[in-house]
Amino acid sequence: MPNLGVNIDHIATIRQARKTNEPDPVWAAALAELGGADCITLHLREDRRHIQDRDLEVMRQTVKVKLNLELATEAEVVDIACRVKPDQVTLVPEKREEVTTEGGLDLVSHEAAVARAMEKLKEAGISINLFLDPDEAQIEMAAKLKADGIELHTGQYALTSGKAQQKELTRLTIAGEQICGAGMELLAGHGLTYTNVQPIAQIPEMAELNIGHSIVSRAVFVGFRDAVSEMKRLITV
Ligand code: PXP
Repeated sequence: MPNLGVNIDHIATIRQARKTNEPDPVWAAALAELGGADCITLHLREDRRHIQDRDLEVMRQTVKVKLNLELATEAEVVDIACRVKPDQVTLVPEKREEVTTEGGLDLVSHEAAVARAMEKLKEAGISINLFLDPDEAQIEMAAKLKADGIELHTGQYALTSGKAQQKELTRLTIAGEQICGAGMELLAGHGLTYTNVQPIAQIPEMAELNIGHSIVSRAVFVGFRDAVSEMKRLITV
């Protein structure tokens, strides 16, 4: 039965469309907690397109469940994380032109940059997860770097259907075995929705799912707290 991490970035996306002070992602985080979220996730992007530094600072004070900060390996954001001290960080790749995170980190080509960021974050006492595709060589490298956990990228699973989706589910399950076998925590996220989440929630030893877009989309119609409760019910049956 995995925990639910609710990504509130897109509440900030709506606010930034007008550059005003509403809707406030801090309110969304509070409602997510009331709806049963076990973790609040936010991504401080280099271009600050949605979450702002203030959001992270305020949420560090107000969020009572685990606070998970997604960030790239750039020194500027890593230094902010070390100062604000979220409970957990998830290192992700970041491209300025992308609409959302497009895939897992490439540890094989960016080992030095990831290792540098990890060293600083570890010194600050923050638990470190790496966002990876379900790829054996990447997971092996993550174990070598002593990551605390791996968030598997479920984007490809979410984009497919039928037999192709079954194949993706098998890849994710095998990757999950490798991650747990290496003593790291298993998490997953990206593109998960009310209709595709259950097989991912049932992968053995799945500790946490991070879900944003689908919950924010449903919240427009049913309210944030109910949207979160509905997702929590689905992943805990
Ligand atoms: N996990 C990671 C590492 C992400 O970058 C994102 C998107 O910000 C998510 C999970 C959530 O993805 P979605 O918004 O598609 O649910």
